[in-house]
Amino acid sequence: MKSLAIEYQLLDYEKLSKADADLASSAIQAMEMAYAPYSNFKVGSAVILANGEVVLGNNQENAAYPSGLCAERVALFSAKSKSNEPISCIAIVAENAKGALADAFACGNCRQVMLEYASQEVQKIPIRVIMRNHEGRFLVLDDVRKLLPFTFNSKTLG
Ligand code: THU
Repeated sequence: MKSLAIEYQLLDYEKLSKADADLASSAIQAMEMAYAPYSNFKVGSAVILANGEVVLGNNQENAAYPSGLCAERVALFSAKSKSNEPISCIAIVAENAKGALADAFACGNCRQVMLEYASQEVQKIPIRVIMRNHEGRFLVLDDVRKLLPFTFNSKTLG
């Protein structure tokens, strides 16, 4: 039998580096403007590029449910539509319909999108990921690729 292990840090907000704490705060700020009238589950995301630019995103829902988009992809697509600057890190936070902290563990579609950018030629550095859990602690991964092993990617297409 083969097995895989994922390494990550689990840190209180106070233990985050200043840069990571600032990015998490930006994600919390972004969450305030989430448009989530159907699920009332609010997600905020902040992407920081290698040049220090921060791009925010939040979930945008729609009466035609599948037309909506997750916070991570709103931020990532916005960032990538502006520049080809490498992505340093993405922070994600969430609150449920009761206003309680929720696990902001990126969905599979968002992981796939992060992976796409992580394997781009221009992306010379790994994309770090910071996800707040329901206890208000932060999972910190040094490389998004750890979140999605056995990927379907451009090389798969041949
Ligand atoms: N959502 C995100 O924004 N990010 C995720 O990674 C998971 C789910 C949003 C989509 C929808 O607006 C709401 O959370 C409930 O699924």
